[in-house]
Amino acid sequence: MSTLEVTSETTDAVVSLEGVRKTYHSGSIEFEALRGVDMRITAGEYVAVVGPSGSGKSTLMNILGCLDVPTQGSYHLGGEDVSTMSETELANVRNRRIGFVFQQFNLLPSLAAWRNVELPLVYAGMGSAERHERAVEALTRVGLGDRVDNRPGELSGGQQQRVAVARALVTEPDIILADEPTGNLDSGSTTAVLGLLDELHDSGRTIVLITHEHDVAARASRNLTIRDGLITADDLVGAR
Ligand SMILES: Nc1ncnc2c1ncn2[C@@H]1O[C@H](COP(=O)(O)OP(=O)(O)O)[C@@H](O)[C@H]1O
Ligand SMILES: [Mg+2]
Repeated sequence: MSTLEVTSETTDAVVSLEGVRKTYHSGSIEFEALRGVDMRITAGEYVAVVGPSGSGKSTLMNILGCLDVPTQGSYHLGGEDVSTMSETELANVRNRRIGFVFQQFNLLPSLAAWRNVELPLVYAGMGSAERHERAVEALTRVGLGDRVDNRPGELSGGQQQRVAVARALVTEPDIILADEPTGNLDSGSTTAVLGLLDELHDSGRTIVLITHEHDVAARASRNLTIRDGLITADDLVGAR
């Protein structure tokens, strides 16, 4: 492969990891949670990263989400080299380019749904009228247009996770990163949230979903298997 081809591939990829390693230190003990991960994700892909507990999924998610940086190796996100950025620069990239969905929802309990959803726009410096409009629009998109004024405690687990998805969407990020998004949901809510991710994928969003459940991973179009800090398989699923 010529140098030119390598360059253009790197540019087309939304996510490009090369030789990523992550070492944790606790006291004098070192643990290598990622041992050389190469990964390339293009715009519009729906990728599931699947692996057992302790395989390095959350470590990988933290790096993909710019919550942490690799110990070694490079990470380009939307063409930008984020592996060498400062905390402040990372926070900025995170807010602009990434929408997060966590297992625990991570909503602020004292704020109405729309207030939770507008938060990333507050950090982005958008005016309040536009923030409100965008938040309501995102909540309507996830089927909660009639719940915008409810606080998280007044919503079911599945509804709370849909608020979290609306919050992840509202900035129109390059990628939506979901770490075990259905891990705390009953089967009905799981179906609803996975259906929502399907819709987002169909409308062209790039989604990276992290899970230890094979039936959840099967919803994606591509499965990356992680084991002991290494990607051991890269399969096209094409279930849908
Ligand atoms: N902050 C940390 N310090 C030390 N070891 C860690 C830390 N975070 C994770 N680990 C270890 O790294 C490995 C991968 O963890 P993690 O990425 O959370 O896996 P998964 O999400 O697949 O369950 C595990 O063995 C875990 O104990
Ligand atoms: Mg995890």
